[in-house]
Amino acid sequence: MSKTSPAAPPSPTLTIRGAALYREIIPQAAQRAILEDIGEVVRQAPLFAPVTARGKPMSVRMTSAGAVGWVSDRGGYRYQALHPRGTPWPAIPDSVLGIWHRVAGPARMPDCCLVNHYGAEARMGLHQDRDEADLTQPVVSISLGDAALFRIGNPARGGKTESVWLSSGDVLVLGGAARLLYHGIDRIRPGSSALLPQGGRINLTLRVAR
Ligand code: SIN
Ligand code: FE2
Repeated sequence: MSKTSPAAPPSPTLTIRGAALYREIIPQAAQRAILEDIGEVVRQAPLFAPVTARGKPMSVRMTSAGAVGWVSDRGGYRYQALHPRGTPWPAIPDSVLGIWHRVAGPARMPDCCLVNHYGAEARMGLHQDRDEADLTQPVVSISLGDAALFRIGNPARGGKTESVWLSSGDVLVLGGAARLLYHGIDRIRPGSSALLPQGGRINLTLRVAR
């Protein structure tokens, strides 16, 4: 085998509704390196508290890296090229892109890394990720810090759902038939990880948005 042949794609620890879960695929040291890189992203593009189009405050705080970032405000939700304060988003760190290359398969390069910060009380209601132009491209979700109870359902609202705890270093891929499934975070488990000095959870979702 030549040195340049890509590493064989890993097999997921489990699949849930067709979403592939790679448990602790990111070793501790690499988690710390990613966290440091995200710290730099947050210094350049501070976390902000989004509101829904109806004006309801979301409990997570967000920012993005990449050519476009995801924002939600009274004008609705959308990808845009500037942080709400009017500055470009920082580049997606190589440490994060490396995870995409390990698990995304033959996909295009992501142009958005959404950073979600969950404090002890934060949650995220069931939703679809469907603002991206090409829905054949996967969404890769990286969990860092406190564990979170992830719920996944169906391509339409309602029906039975399944839940799984996501822990620091876990990576979940929503692709193929799982790409448009409703999903959300019911709660986090405060104190379950020492990775973030202040506690809490950071979720990174890599998307091909445009
Ligand atoms: C999301 O669906 O945008 C976030 C999922 C998560 O926090 O794990
Ligand atoms: Fe999502």
